[in-house]
Amino acid sequence: MRERALQEVAEAADLGAVQALRVQYMGKKGELTRQLKTLGTLAPDERRAAGGAINALKAELDDALRGRRKTLEREAVARQLGSERVDVTLPGYSFPVGGLHLLTRVTNRLTDVFRSMGYDVVVGPELETDEYNFQKLNFPDEHPARDTQDTFWTEDGRLLRTQTSPMQVRYMQDHEPPFKIVVPGKVFRNEAVDATHEAMFHQLEALVVGERVTMADLHGAIAQMAQALLGPETKTRLQPTYFPFVEPGAEFAVWWKNPRTGKEGWLELGGCGMVHPNVFKAVGYEGVTGFAFGFGLERLAMVSYGVPDIRYFYGGDLRVLEQFRGEL
Ligand code: FA5
Repeated sequence: MRERALQEVAEAADLGAVQALRVQYMGKKGELTRQLKTLGTLAPDERRAAGGAINALKAELDDALRGRRKTLEREAVARQLGSERVDVTLPGYSFPVGGLHLLTRVTNRLTDVFRSMGYDVVVGPELETDEYNFQKLNFPDEHPARDTQDTFWTEDGRLLRTQTSPMQVRYMQDHEPPFKIVVPGKVFRNEAVDATHEAMFHQLEALVVGERVTMADLHGAIAQMAQALLGPETKTRLQPTYFPFVEPGAEFAVWWKNPRTGKEGWLELGGCGMVHPNVFKAVGYEGVTGFAFGFGLERLAMVSYGVPDIRYFYGGDLRVLEQFRGEL
């Protein structure tokens, strides 16, 4: 029995088998326990010898069972540690991270360029009054130029600004010249939306006021911006046009070669001109001159990045957004 029992214990495959062997030999009805119970039937001499042998075997078997259990437990821990080992050389999981929207990048790049030219960057309210959006910019009531900026009105008579130009007036009211500012921001027009028109889009406005500021300074500022943004060879052009708050007024364009398509041509960016005397009068300025320009950021971004439809900017489609994740 001793040999069989020790053999079985040594071969027990798991903790359950060890426990079953303990019951089989040393439980209440176990084989060894039964042997102990037979002692009473033996003669006294034999009883002592048999009792000693059985108790020694019991101790030996108990040791063997404990030893086997410890070994199995150690092996289980070793197996678990082995299977749970972290291989730090495996490539990690990459978590999706967001990026700046293309228009945010274009805005940041532009404001960086203007800061480097000594301009302050300021922002103004999107909910405006007729006074700032039109009247003080020399659009009197019923002026036909208002029709070019179809306006969203609120029930209390305010409006969503149709241009960043009202910030010209707000800034001049609160500051003394000379100064140079740019105003990036959202503007709103009741447009029929198509590939090149949105009802909400972005403009960047620039205003420079001081002594003897001239049209040449205006062209110089536009040329510098265009060259900083699009390369030192970039040419710019001004063509006369009408805006009520500038005189003379012009549209400005850049000669642009798209590096992706290789196409070249004049790209109309926006409007500009010398600040109209009526605008200076509205803010109480005397004896100064100034220039202003403003343009649409989507327009610039579409051409520079080859975006074929303005609606892609606001569709929230990740397939579009992800294409520009790493670009500046
Ligand atoms: C203006 O808004 C004038 N405030 C610009 C200005 C500023 C002139 C300072 C003089 C001095 P205009 O309405 O042309 O001008 O709009 C300027 C630019 O905004 C356009 O050249 C175009 O690039 C962009 N734009 C106009 N309407 C939309 C539209 N619906 N969707 C996207 N971009 C538009």
